Amino acid sequence: MPTLNWIGKEAVVNHDKEVPFKLLRKVKSASVGDNSQNLIIHGDNLEALKALMPYYYGKIKCIYIDPPYNTGNEKWIYNDKVNSPKIKQWLGKVVGRESEDLTRHDKWLCMMYPRLKLLRDLLAEDGVILASIDDNELSNFIQILNDIFLKRNYIETFIWKSRLGKGATSQTTAKLHEYIVAYAKDINLVKFKTDKRIRGKESKERLRQWGQGDKREDRPTMYFPIFSKEYGEVFPIRPDGSDGRWRMSKIRIKELLDQGLITFEKQKDGRIEVYRKILSGSETNTAYSSILDTEIVKTTAHGSIELKDIFGKQVFDYPKPSALIKELISLNTLNDQNAIILDSFAGSGTTGHAVLELNKDGGNRKFIMVELEDKVAKKITAGRIRKVVKKHKYKAGFEYCELDKTLFDENGHIESSCDFKEFASYIYFTETQRNLDFKKAKDNFIGELSGTEYYLIYKEKNKNDLRKSFLKRIKKNNNKKVIYADRCLIDDMTLSKFNIVFKQIPYEVKVY
Ligand SMILES: C[S@@+](CC[C@H](N)C(=O)[O-])C[C@H]1O[C@@H](n2cnc3c(N)ncnc32)[C@H](O)[C@@H]1O
Repeated sequence: MPTLNWIGKEAVVNHDKEVPFKLLRKVKSASVGDNSQNLIIHGDNLEALKALMPYYYGKIKCIYIDPPYNTGNEKWIYNDKVNSPKIKQWLGKVVGRESEDLTRHDKWLCMMYPRLKLLRDLLAEDGVILASIDDNELSNFIQILNDIFLKRNYIETFIWKSRLGKGATSQTTAKLHEYIVAYAKDINLVKFKTDKRIRGKESKERLRQWGQGDKREDRPTMYFPIFSKEYGEVFPIRPDGSDGRWRMSKIRIKELLDQGLITFEKQKDGRIEVYRKILSGSETNTAYSSILDTEIVKTTAHGSIELKDIFGKQVFDYPKPSALIKELISLNTLNDQNAIILDSFAGSGTTGHAVLELNKDGGNRKFIMVELEDKVAKKITAGRIRKVVKKHKYKAGFEYCELDKTLFDENGHIESSCDFKEFASYIYFTETQRNLDFKKAKDNFIGELSGTEYYLIYKEKNKNDLRKSFLKRIKKNNNKKVIYADRCLIDDMTLSKFNIVFKQIPYEVKVY
């Protein structure tokens, strides 16, 4: 199969392995609620994804990402610390436009490749990744996704009609769409939701009250605007021009709007009448369409209006509409109400918002979001979730984290701020490629896999020594026991009698 080559490829294909492992530091003052297990991490996603590994390896059910499209307008900077003279010349400079910057596609591929590798490692066996992209990098993107996720795990390139206007975007056409590329970790394990179609007749019913009691003053609370993409705010107006009233409550009309069951029709006299679509017939399930339904997923304009409503002003350019992300993440998490959903290019936090919305079905899904820019992460990503949680009185909150120091300090010692739980998670993960289950861990015992038990002596009162007295604390069985400590004060014969392998901290701690 042909593979893509680009400048810097050899330097980045294994760069994910070279990224130093950093600790995560929770910032209580910037968090909301206690132990929600939702995370917002400020920092570079390359380091953040690595830091998540001991806790979330193979656990993420759905990844949605919206990386820079490399349009030449985003002012993104390639800044990874890759050991390559060619690449070092690129660092700290804004990636230029087509024809001005001959290495712009190479830089983008170098940035994306190691991040996608880490994302794949975090994905559950039945998980999927969905990534927004446009024509600037679509073909390159598919090639590296084929490389990392394998061609046979390709699901679809969904088409999203992101724009309704007809303004030309080139000399010849008006581009109205972008793409969402989807891959599975293992295509055989993916279960997508289906489209529901009603076979049968469609009729309509006017939403404005007619006949008796049809005036605004008859039911003042039933007079309010309904938002139409085409006509803006639409009020119930009687044919004589006076105010009328709707036949249904705001909440019911919102539900129908969300289901795409409301239509607007301009009358000869200029008024806009609103109708409810009535579908009668039998419901059938069909395979999910590769062209997204605009009535459900909305457009970019909706994303901007939504965010403006939350903050009272425009704070972020081109946020995705939460309806789009909600629909995308529901594809494989609708029936998994405990799914963990990750977005490592969080921006205005739409993914977190969408997860909270999806949980209105009684679910307990969790989100993890990563954002590079300090101000965006604090004020916009976290700010949005804070406001949404407060407004809708959601029970869930989030923990706000900063990327902290590297696990190994400059002298190669374990960073002193690293606590027992963090270090135990790291040790267990590097030994087993599994995440530590804190329910099974007890005191110094941190876990067992395939007949090997793991123990950690760290931050003990009398220094971190493996002494004879510790033998009372190990399980009485023939399992092999790997014990991490600073020093071993037990002779080799006893170690072998108890089937113990001693590993010295920090020298025998695996670098991940
Ligand atoms: C296109 S925006 C995402 C918009 C988002 N989907 C929304 O609806 O608001 C991309 C975001 O990724 C962030 N970003 C870019 N590079 C990053 C990196 N290396 N690590 C973390 N975030 C990054 C940018 O700061 C920007 O906020």
